[in-house]
Amino acid sequence: MTNIPFNKPSVVGNEFAYMNEAVRNGHASGDGPFTRKVHQFLENALGIQKALLTTSCTHALEMSALLLDIQPGDEVIVPSFTFVSTINAFVLRGAKPVFADIKPSTLNLDERLLDGLIGPRTKAIVVVHYAGVGCELSEILDIASKHHVPVIEDNAHGLFGRYRGRFLGTFGAMATQSFHETKNFISGEGGALLINDPRYTERAEIIREKGTNRSRFFRGQVDKYTWVDIGSSYLPSDILAAFLYAQLEHREEIQGKRKRIWEYYQDSLGGWAPAHDVGLPVIPLWCEQAYHMYYLLLPSLDRRQALIRFLKERGIMAVFHYLPLHLSGMGQTFGGKQGDCPVTEDVSDRLLRLPFYNDITEEEQERVVRGIEDFFG
Ligand SMILES: Cc1ncc(COP(=O)(O)O)c(C=O)c1O
Repeated sequence: MTNIPFNKPSVVGNEFAYMNEAVRNGHASGDGPFTRKVHQFLENALGIQKALLTTSCTHALEMSALLLDIQPGDEVIVPSFTFVSTINAFVLRGAKPVFADIKPSTLNLDERLLDGLIGPRTKAIVVVHYAGVGCELSEILDIASKHHVPVIEDNAHGLFGRYRGRFLGTFGAMATQSFHETKNFISGEGGALLINDPRYTERAEIIREKGTNRSRFFRGQVDKYTWVDIGSSYLPSDILAAFLYAQLEHREEIQGKRKRIWEYYQDSLGGWAPAHDVGLPVIPLWCEQAYHMYYLLLPSLDRRQALIRFLKERGIMAVFHYLPLHLSGMGQTFGGKQGDCPVTEDVSDRLLRLPFYNDITEEEQERVVRGIEDFFG
């Protein structure tokens, strides 16, 4: 029997033909024709002001920290239950993380805690739409605007998900996307910064292009380009943009497949899970999820670890994440300690992600489900 990996990147259309074309175009570096196509696609599909492709979501987050002019000692509120880049991008500028706990339902930042975490030094609230299910954006944006604090959406999981009918990534001052190989749409490594507040657009182009006004030069708005600000090289090769564009062209097909995969797990496990004290994803009625992942919440850490081993013996790779950031080595240097974020600490021990990729077959999913049921006996 073949192994079932946790993730497998897939090719859906013209990826390699477009990569060839990108080279033949004579513009294989950044901001070539395919990058422009991806920018236009994202701007039109999401109805946003500006999309800028980046080399990763991590780099898009770093750009957002630079654009907010984060200074040493500034505080940034972030869920403890997230990937390290969500906050590391801000810590790189000298920020102090203020870790928020999550809700046991959606595993998103608990908006009821925000008021108590905002202080005079708070310079940003970074939210994560975990598993592509929207945070409570109405409440979060209300609280943030009351305190004049910008919201950044780390939407690494949530491209094309919606909250109350509106696309995730269109609510905050800025949002970041990931096209890493584990995401719904991929370019191996890759990301994007979405800009909803036009005050950031011009400087974003400069920061992304090594601190130069090269983008304005290419548009004929200045007659030479030069160093005007701090910056780095955050733009991906047009060859990677070409791969990504071919994926985005198949948006409906990819999202349709992922919806079917998600629903297969849900239909198979929905009736079984409560009787075995296993939690499943919660999707509020007002959220259209992005179908990024499917997870279980096992009754305990021991049971989760035993299930991982049991499935592995059957060639099935199921994985866990995230370790609470406030308890990490770095998190502790910022004062994080056991008990600060009890829901995060609990969920982090019990969560298990099931194999989930565009080309997983129903037979493979059936094997995963049977493996889980057999483990519980
Ligand atoms: C919530 C979240 N933010 C950011 C990232 C970083 O994305 P990238 O690998 O594109 O830098 C990830 C990676 O999986 C993530 O899960």
